[in-house]
Amino acid sequence: MALRSIHLLGSPALRKRSDEVESVDEEVRTLVRDLSDTMTAAEGIGLAANQVGLARRVAVVQVGDHPELVLINPEILETDGEEKDEEGCLSLPDMFGDVARAQRIVVETTNLDGERERHELTDLFARAVLHEVDHLNGVLFFDHLSPLKRRMLLAKWKKSRKGQTGYIKEVTPAEASGT
Ligand code: CO
Repeated sequence: MALRSIHLLGSPALRKRSDEVESVDEEVRTLVRDLSDTMTAAEGIGLAANQVGLARRVAVVQVGDHPELVLINPEILETDGEEKDEEGCLSLPDMFGDVARAQRIVVETTNLDGERERHELTDLFARAVLHEVDHLNGVLFFDHLSPLKRRMLLAKWKKSRKGQTGYIKEVTPAEASGT
């Protein structure tokens, strides 16, 4: 099991659009495995490669009893409906906000065998995938909040980070939950 360190808000990696994966090779498979281990250890439901400092279009999502979904070069093909729910993020521990997302999506992604496949997802599973695709585009959940709520959240974040420097967080098993 290889746990990678998580980049917190302040890391430039979180604000970059990640690069397409050219081919699913051993390096990509290792990255997927590490993302999966790190997400599980941090008790998150999703983790994108740029959250561990790598600007690749790779992420993993694990919601409830569903099998883990690997996202490589994911594309959202369809969105329907709207649902508002509370969201968090492993890159902003203990910060939460209500985000409106599509209730149903169709996502196309490359799997670990290098083949494209489609998934129809709803509710929390759809939300988690949209959150991770946002990460790959350099977007964070609070970008969807109103300017006032965003300011409040960022003020709270600054306060919680008082006296701490840097934006790399070591992951050890059993951390706070988030995506
Ligand atoms: Co996140």
